[in-house]
Amino acid sequence: MAADFDRIKEEIRRRTDLADLVGQRVSLKKTGRGFTGLCPFHDDRNPSFNVNPTLGIYKCWSCGATGDAFKWVMETQRVDFMDAMRILGKAAGVEIPQFTGKQDSDEPEQMEAAMADALAFFRDQLRSDTHAQEYLRLRGIDKETADAWEIGYGPPAGEALALTLKKKGHNLPLCQQLFLVDRDQSGGYYDRFRGRLMFPIRDERGRLVAFGGRVTGQGQPKYINSSDTPLYSKSRVLYGMNRAKEAIAKAGQAVLVEGYLDVIACHRAGVGQAVASLGTALADDHVRLLKRWCSQVVVLYDADEAGQKAADRASLLLAEGGLSVKVALAPAGEDPDTLLKQKGAAAVVAAVEQGVSPMDFRMGRLNAKLDPESDAYWKEVVEILATAETPLELQKHLIPVAAKYPGIRDRQAAAKALERMVAKARNDRKRKDNPRQAKIQAEEDVEPVAVEEQLKPGDLAGPEKVVFLSLFAPALVAEAWKFACHAPLMKTALGTRVARSLEGLGAAAPRDDRWPHQIQDAAIRTLLFDLAMQSGEPIELPILEEAVDRLSRDLEARTAQLEAEAALTAGAADDEALRNINDRLRRLKGGKSPQNSS
Ligand code: UTP
Ligand code: MN
Repeated sequence: MAADFDRIKEEIRRRTDLADLVGQRVSLKKTGRGFTGLCPFHDDRNPSFNVNPTLGIYKCWSCGATGDAFKWVMETQRVDFMDAMRILGKAAGVEIPQFTGKQDSDEPEQMEAAMADALAFFRDQLRSDTHAQEYLRLRGIDKETADAWEIGYGPPAGEALALTLKKKGHNLPLCQQLFLVDRDQSGGYYDRFRGRLMFPIRDERGRLVAFGGRVTGQGQPKYINSSDTPLYSKSRVLYGMNRAKEAIAKAGQAVLVEGYLDVIACHRAGVGQAVASLGTALADDHVRLLKRWCSQVVVLYDADEAGQKAADRASLLLAEGGLSVKVALAPAGEDPDTLLKQKGAAAVVAAVEQGVSPMDFRMGRLNAKLDPESDAYWKEVVEILATAETPLELQKHLIPVAAKYPGIRDRQAAAKALERMVAKARNDRKRKDNPRQAKIQAEEDVEPVAVEEQLKPGDLAGPEKVVFLSLFAPALVAEAWKFACHAPLMKTALGTRVARSLEGLGAAAPRDDRWPHQIQDAAIRTLLFDLAMQSGEPIELPILEEAVDRLSRDLEARTAQLEAEAALTAGAADDEALRNINDRLRRLKGGKSPQNSS
């Protein structure tokens, strides 16, 4: 499936002229290697937006917006990747088959198998690790609970899972896509979850799609969650849904809590309809998922300011999605998990039962925060009343609220005035609702894991940079490729990493101009794009030859020095050190092979 998918994606890319596409929205001017214009993603005065149709990428040097044709459509038309593909496919005349049905590729099976083996590994580790068991005990999780929720442990050693997956014959690049392992600078694979208690995340149908890992102690970040993978989209999955859905359907009600351990605690306390959104704010897709199973949601979040804010936002979103909502807060300083531990199951059940309407919840917050004597109070109260779900609900609150107005005599008249203000606020809200909604969501999405690594073309220098730059000179690419994808030739760690990434694309220079899109390592991909977009005068053959010459001589010097070291160490009879040196030598010597053909 993935191979087919990639083939179609690349076919669409090949047939799409990015300058044409962008030109539909931005007026572009032809410059040296591409086109420039005013950036549509920020308030741009000088044209800092560049399009390189040969490479099929755009980049704004001012705000940093960058991407390919797919990203462009996603950003400008606010659609997801599949829709962008459909839109571009249609324009380019490429037919897109249904990717959802049964495919002949076995990749989905491979992914499922890798996830299942990872889970088995984590659970095995928990059985044999006393430190992890001690932490579980500390958190009050008995063996039965741990088994029911398939809790495991990712050991602190750097590559225990990676080695296990490899031994079982799994494809590690695929495991990397599944957020199980990652690749380090030298190209080796290491575990994503180290020294963490592991919570498998299953989707509503029970398919294992992701993991969350909590440090067994104080470290940061507290949780690492799988990022979105081919199996997992975090805005569509609720933790515990597979175990909770029957109870939710039966009660017609779901209980939404904040974390993994809160879900588990609720279920233990008999509140079997508890679920949580994970490592992300509640999203529209979560709301739709809940809507399929019930008509009411009780939001049971922490009582702290962050929890109340999140509850406020979640209840708005749920109500907009057509669900009846109640807001309950755990007693101050507690969450369902600590509540169960301190006060027992009845306290958890009671917390759920004391849920109030979002309007009452918001009024309660307001009254705790502001005085009716202040102007701010009246500004906010209007906003709150504007969230009323029915006219009846609004009427119920108008008079009691109006009565609080300082020095008020005629309550009815005050209530009428308030009602007019609320009606106006409702209209204003409706008008600007959609953009605002999108913005709030973007701001509140917590992304505790992947901070995108940023490399700049300036990080590359000297002859290495010349070799990589030559890849973008059509006359030199074939020659440059031989050296550019030869890691031992490179001197710096970054150069080596670039070369490794290129190796992944094959020994001969790709025929397609847009080859950098195929690079797996996202930071390197961006680096190369930036390099291509930034380069000034095209490189000429003598410059490339000189650079290769310098790199080769340098490699020889390093080899010679190591050989001398080896001779000395052999004299000192230090086997370990000698082996080490010989290893390094062997690696360096691998670098001598390509011959400068000129
Ligand atoms: P909390 O900070 O409330 O943690 O985050 P918790 O669930 O009570 O966990 P314990 O009791 O301290 O062990 C609530 C949820 O937010 C997500 C997790 O899903 C967590 O369960 N979260 C939190 C993250 O994704 N990353 C973090 O770094 C922190
Ligand atoms: Mn907790």
